[in-house]
Amino acid sequence: MASVTIIEFGGTEHEVEIEPGKSLMQIAVDNSIPGIDADCGGACACGTCHVIVADAWFAKTGQTSDEETMMLGMTPERAETSRLACQIETSDALDGMVVQLPEFQM
Ligand code: FES
Repeated sequence: MASVTIIEFGGTEHEVEIEPGKSLMQIAVDNSIPGIDADCGGACACGTCHVIVADAWFAKTGQTSDEETMMLGMTPERAETSRLACQIETSDALDGMVVQLPEFQM
């Protein structure tokens, strides 16, 4: 089973199964991971699905669109490898990826 690990701000780790074609946000929500609010339902319009991708995996998460970059610009805890989880399409190629959640979503 291909999986990703989502680490809450407090350090609690969740290993969730990848469902190819679904966004990382959708997988997190489906697995009731706390800390991903996803208020806009994946429309890249709320910034409440912010994740910080482990350095080694960042390039594999795909291109960050201008719209996503703009939303991330409003995120106080933005890091070099920040992404919006709703904009990361998962596939088996992301097996083993680790992402960290910020302390707060917007
Ligand atoms: S769910 Fe709203 S920006 Fe990702």
